[in-house]
Amino acid sequence: MSDLTGKIALVTGATSGIGRATAIALAARGADVVISGRNAGRGAEVVEKIEADGGTARFVAADLAVEDDVRRLAEQVGAVDILVNSAGAGAFGPSAGFTTEQYNTLFDSNVRAIFLLTAALAPKMAGRGGGSVINVSSGSAVLGDENNAIYVATKGAVNAITRAFAAEYGPSGVRVNAVSPGPTYTSAPAIWLDRYIDLIPLRRVGRPEDVAEVIAFLAGPGGSYVNAAVIPVDGGLTAVEPPKPPARTENWIQQS
Ligand SMILES: NC(=O)c1ccc[n+]([C@@H]2O[C@H](COP(=O)([O-])OP(=O)(O)OC[C@H]3O[C@@H](n4cnc5c(N)ncnc54)[C@H](OP(=O)(O)O)[C@@H]3O)[C@@H](O)[C@H]2O)c1
Repeated sequence: MSDLTGKIALVTGATSGIGRATAIALAARGADVVISGRNAGRGAEVVEKIEADGGTARFVAADLAVEDDVRRLAEQVGAVDILVNSAGAGAFGPSAGFTTEQYNTLFDSNVRAIFLLTAALAPKMAGRGGGSVINVSSGSAVLGDENNAIYVATKGAVNAITRAFAAEYGPSGVRVNAVSPGPTYTSAPAIWLDRYIDLIPLRRVGRPEDVAEVIAFLAGPGGSYVNAAVIPVDGGLTAVEPPKPPARTENWIQQS
């Protein structure tokens, strides 16, 4: 459990949910973790939890929808070995109800921030002998998800930029991958997520720790030959057909 000793990690969206669980998992493996998010109170709670468990962490506030904040965050953390882009925001509802500004803000926080942070930090990783970038995408990127057009477009872009960055930085020893969670118990009401249970082959909604374990694997030496991958962590949701209605047992031939 100490395969990340001596490594420095930046985890965005680490004040909650999957990012929080990832920060805790990386710290438990010995990484020195920079926790980022907007909410300083929740950031302090994660730092305290990691320190109480014997790890090291600090909080750096940033609103990733604001370009200057993203650039300041990259400067403040300096050089890292691991970058986990977990921060992300959703927007649900009929598409005609969204403004261009809301559309742009979603792309700024969910895609532009990944672009700016990776472009700033991956070359420094290369200078330290290599590194690992892990983006948190979504199974929604590969499914037609009703009333979710902006979010799924941002996550489709996350999958695409993951592969493009893997091609760009792979030759200098920086691996770039994504995890693609299915419904996972975090800040969304459980009642929304539980509607998926019958569609998930494992018949349960994910936990933040389920995703964090895969991210920690990708960050460490076990993932050393994994690059440009988008790994579903969804209990099989996006790989199988949904349950079918009961099989027909009577013979029937269409007449017209
Ligand atoms: N939970 C799911 O079912 C699910 C499924 C598929 C994919 N995902 C993806 O998983 C990632 C993590 O989400 P989660 O489920 O863990 O949600 P969460 O518990 O709501 O956490 C979201 C995190 O993102 C941060 N964040 C959001 N907008 C930000 C901004 N503009 N600037 C800085 N930080 C921002 C929040 O930080 P602050 O609150 O401190 O600002 C928070 O730490 C997201 O990319 C999401 O799209 C989640």
